[in-house]
Amino acid sequence: MHPNLSFDQAPPISVPYRFFLAAPWFGVLAGLLLAWTGGDALASRWTPEALALAHLIAVGFMLQAMSGAMFQFIPVAVGGNVWRPSVVANFVQPLLLLGALSLVAGFLFSAPVLFSAAVAAFLLGVGVFVTVVLLALWRTPATGMTLWTMRIAVAGLAIAVLLGSLLAEGLARGLSLPLIELANVHLAWGLGGWGLMLVAAVSYFVVPMFQLTHPYPLRFARGFGPLLLLLVTIWSALWLGDDLRRAQAMGFPLALLCAAFAAMTLWLQHTRRRKIDDATSLYFRVAMIALLAFAASGAAMAIRPELSDDPRASVWLGMLALPGVFVSTISGMMYKITPFLNWLHLQRLGAPISAVPNMKMMIPGTAMTVQFRLHVLALVLLLAAVWLPALARVAGLFFAVSCFWLGWNLILAMNSYRRFRDQIRASVSRC
Ligand code: HEM
Repeated sequence: MHPNLSFDQAPPISVPYRFFLAAPWFGVLAGLLLAWTGGDALASRWTPEALALAHLIAVGFMLQAMSGAMFQFIPVAVGGNVWRPSVVANFVQPLLLLGALSLVAGFLFSAPVLFSAAVAAFLLGVGVFVTVVLLALWRTPATGMTLWTMRIAVAGLAIAVLLGSLLAEGLARGLSLPLIELANVHLAWGLGGWGLMLVAAVSYFVVPMFQLTHPYPLRFARGFGPLLLLLVTIWSALWLGDDLRRAQAMGFPLALLCAAFAAMTLWLQHTRRRKIDDATSLYFRVAMIALLAFAASGAAMAIRPELSDDPRASVWLGMLALPGVFVSTISGMMYKITPFLNWLHLQRLGAPISAVPNMKMMIPGTAMTVQFRLHVLALVLLLAAVWLPALARVAGLFFAVSCFWLGWNLILAMNSYRRFRDQIRASVSRC
């Protein structure tokens, strides 16, 4: 599982960048929304504001960043040939933006027309994205667990979006659907079958490469994805089969599996050869601690279902999963991927390799570290705000500022690319 990179088919740098640059602003919106609405938003997972917040992160921040990363990762890391990446990105990204904003507005204003608009945008946008990406993942001659886990993740995205669309149409048209059961199945595919599956697929590759750890043990990497798929499928069958007691109990093995992934990643970090704590490895550590806390809380609720009688218990889980696990992992990855992208594209401009600036020159190290600390503070406040609603507004503000800063750092990375590109072009044309 040693990284084997192929740069020939890498898409134009604007393709991944446009998704990365959009993602943090959904976090800013989520923070501002919480600051505006205050603690009542977190009273239960079903408040319109909680649903809007969950989706600002899930189909705003996460979906933008993760789809942008796939456009880059598939050709470079698994040798897949994504069909016309610029054309597809030009078509897909506006639809994903439109879908996310209409869905969030649909929750906030209970407007059927906005739900229907979101469904149309997501079915078309995600439909095209999934088709193009699955074809690339299927046709590549590469093998290995990163590839297989990624295929499962893309299928997980398709299922989550189909179920989300059914739920949204159900709300828009007042259909009599088993909303709670369907929502539980939908979120398992969204957070587990898509989110965690993709994090695992990418981690098998980038954690050893960027954080200089040993590779994930082969048996672990072979087992994790298929087992997660199996558990999410059984969870879905039990919820849809109305077997409430067993469905709740299924939370336990799912929690164990999440804990195993977190513990393995922390162990690899702990035993790595060179212990450099840059923003990426710190972000990963926070994400894995949040995943352990999510697993412990989920396991406790599976063993003692009365613990989830408090409506804030599910909000606690959502807070650990969305800003805790996913925003942290994605922010850490973007801090490595964007300097790497800059370096990759600069060294293709024809200058001698010694003229290409070091990756460390793309985003100032202190800017990343300070932003990371702000994120951790915001996360602690968000978690506390679940139980102490008076903290919600300040937590929202901190989260908005931290995401704003992330967005700003990514703009700095893009500007560094432009500046160095112009310098290199000028020096190449002088020669
Ligand atoms: C693919 C990524 C997605 C993820 C990770 C995700 C996550 C979630 C989560 C966590 C919940 C439960 C909210 C809570 O417990 O507070 C939920 C519910 C819901 N989601 Fe999503 N979602 C995704 C995509 C979508 C899409 C694309 C749509 C619509 C087109 C959608 C529509 C809904 C609806 C309507 C509900 C339930 C609302 C209710 O029953 O009152 N979701 N989603």
